[in-house]
Amino acid sequence: MTDRPSSPQLRERPELTQRPRRLRSTTGIRRLVQEHRVRPADLVLPLFVAEGLTEPKPISTMPGVLQHTRESFQQACREAVAAGVGGLMIFAVPAHRDADGSCALDPDGILAQAVRWAVEVADGVPVIADLCLDEFTDHGHCGVLDAQGRVDNDATLTAYGRMAVVLAEAGADVLGASGMMDGQIGWVRKELDASGYTDTALLAYAVKYASALYGPFREAVDSALQGDRRTYQQDPGNARESLREVALDVTEGADIVMVKPATAYLDVVARVRDLVDLPVAAYVVSGEYAMVEAAAAVGAIDRRRTILELHTSVKRAGAGIIATYWATELARWLQEES
Ligand code: PBG
Repeated sequence: MTDRPSSPQLRERPELTQRPRRLRSTTGIRRLVQEHRVRPADLVLPLFVAEGLTEPKPISTMPGVLQHTRESFQQACREAVAAGVGGLMIFAVPAHRDADGSCALDPDGILAQAVRWAVEVADGVPVIADLCLDEFTDHGHCGVLDAQGRVDNDATLTAYGRMAVVLAEAGADVLGASGMMDGQIGWVRKELDASGYTDTALLAYAVKYASALYGPFREAVDSALQGDRRTYQQDPGNARESLREVALDVTEGADIVMVKPATAYLDVVARVRDLVDLPVAAYVVSGEYAMVEAAAAVGAIDRRRTILELHTSVKRAGAGIIATYWATELARWLQEES
């Protein structure tokens, strides 16, 4: 019952011994031969806690992502933990900022408090605190400024060292050193060890590009930044430079190295994976989130398949750890599928 022309195969079959399609023929076989699969435990959920909020506040450019109150923050942490995520990454938005970002060094400041709130509900899931000044400075830079208004690398290290001890003391398991200052890993490691925090791990944002894809994050943390971060974050045109950054962080004592953003830099993820034996992480940033959500909202792409595909690609490129705003939802899907 076919109107197809009679099959040419019947007359003459090509002598194919290699038929890759065999391994794609059923759901079961495809599942069996799948090389890379994202697991809930690979995923780290970034969360924003804002000081002085009475209700959670939506971030308009990141539908579904909130600035949290203590209560909604702890609830989001519990949901993430129940979904099986591998880590919670904490960012804080203070009520007051100053030139030195001094709230970041305050043991009762919003970030240190949020770390304690996370530890209360994390049930052993690692709490990763962001170690950077940009949310706390009134100029929005990741460090303190010198008399000419330039980011002062070495003075910033002193602040990071003190901030690291405060966050370790608050109970953070891991510190995410995201400021891109030279020598930050070595300096912070030394300061932590001198205070007895030898077990606090360092997640080095070893490779962090000066990316337009951080746009929505700036709203998420009410960033005060004027200008850009090109004197400390990397030029998107450079890949070899990333290997140098990674090698330095490894020498200085990094425990995990991260590449950021993720999906536009998969070549860099793969090269970093080849270079080191440490765990490699990648951060699917706010702009990557916003692009997918915006495209899905107009029906241009299938939201769930796109999210799964992008994270699988990051894993395939070599990142065993993926920071992503979709962590909880994605972890739930992955639990359903397994
Ligand atoms: C800075 C920091 C940024 C992000 C994480 N940490 C912003 C920046 O460098 O400007 C961006 C994350 C995102 O866009 O999701 N400490």
